[in-house]
Amino acid sequence: MMIRYAVVILLMASPAFAQDAGTAAWTAVYEVFSHPRCANCHVGPDNVPMWSGSSYGAKPRPHGMNTSAGASRIGAESIPCSSCHALQNSQLPHGPPGAHEWLLAPVTMQWFGKSSAEICSQIKDPARNGNRTIAAVAKHIEDEPLVHWGWTPGPGREPAPHSVAQVVEFLKQWDAAGAPCPAK
Ligand code: HEC
Ligand code: HEC
Repeated sequence: MMIRYAVVILLMASPAFAQDAGTAAWTAVYEVFSHPRCANCHVGPDNVPMWSGSSYGAKPRPHGMNTSAGASRIGAESIPCSSCHALQNSQLPHGPPGAHEWLLAPVTMQWFGKSSAEICSQIKDPARNGNRTIAAVAKHIEDEPLVHWGWTPGPGREPAPHSVAQVVEFLKQWDAAGAPCPAK
């Protein structure tokens, strides 16, 4: 018994074990960030929000209806997002989802279609995460209603995996292990 505990303690103290635990925690974070409920707003350089996942079928496709977020991210240059996206989810099938505000993530925070390794290095880079520490990224997830929408997306949409509390915990574990990133 004593020997087994000693082995476990030694393992936990070893850098390799911490690295593995950190990479496992990151993988769980990536499952959430890459899910359509999150990635559809953190989209590519053409400024077009995406529809993908659950009721939209397997293949991602552009939003349509002449929608472009523009530099404003709220569609001020064309059709404002708020002309369809209200403060709450529509309860009709394929009705527009809603939240306290509805806009795309800034261009620097786009990760739609990127690999786990790419998103990993982006999330810990203050130049591309809104000048945040990893603790502040976790706090954003804990506090921000737009992030919480990913778990309450309205009828017909698959919620993001895990939960708000779990993602916060995974980010803390990843940070504590030195925030390692996978090879690809
Ligand atoms: C309706 C669009 C929208 C959805 C859906 C959305 N986000 Fe965001 N996200 C934004 C906007 C806008 C910002 C910029 C807010 C800021 O920096 O204060 C942002 C910023 C972030 C940030 C901080 C910056 C960074 O890149 O580290 C994180 C982390 C984040 N979102 C995670 C998520 C997660 C996880 C989900 C899904 C559970 C999600 N978001 C869903 C629009 C969205
Ligand atoms: C003309 C109305 C209209 C406008 C304007 C509009 N949307 Fe939408 N949007 C919708 C509808 C309707 C849906 C839901 C479609 C469905 O469920 O089949 C939707 C869905 C979405 C989704 C998918 C959410 C998900 O993951 O399920 C995103 C992201 C989105 N809109 C972002 C935006 C942004 C950002 C803007 C402004 C730049 C915008 N929309 C402007 C009507 C609109």
